[in-house]
Amino acid sequence: GAPVKVNISKIELGQQIVVEWRGQPVFVSHRTAEALALLDETDSEVADPHSEASNQPAYVDGKTRAIKPELLVVMGVCTHLGCSPLFKPEVASADMGADWKGGYFCPCHGSHYDMSGRVFKGQPAPLNLPVPPYSYESDDVIVIG
Ligand code: FES
Repeated sequence: GAPVKVNISKIELGQQIVVEWRGQPVFVSHRTAEALALLDETDSEVADPHSEASNQPAYVDGKTRAIKPELLVVMGVCTHLGCSPLFKPEVASADMGADWKGGYFCPCHGSHYDMSGRVFKGQPAPLNLPVPPYSYESDDVIVIG
């Protein structure tokens, strides 16, 4: 499939957009400083904190899983059986519980991922959400693929 250009300048802080690449959803998330700080806390709770077993380009950091920390680009495809996880960015939200630090919830069999798409220990999903190849064309535009 062809590469997809995404203007990221209008993604509000704390929100994400979903774009399609190769017929699959890609989550593009504008993370807050608080969300990035909480990755230090989820480090000990996720199965593969440095994303060593997970599918991502070599130029992406293992913890923030991004080129620029504030912008996460991950496949919106659960590594269990391929459902699309729901975005749950609110910390201590009513539906995810008081200990929730923001992340993703797969509605099919309940896998939980943090705000870097890192799967928590003991979940049905075996791996972190994959990071597709991408690059910055400019400060405002990324190219996926
Ligand atoms: Fe996501 Fe099974 S497909 S937990």
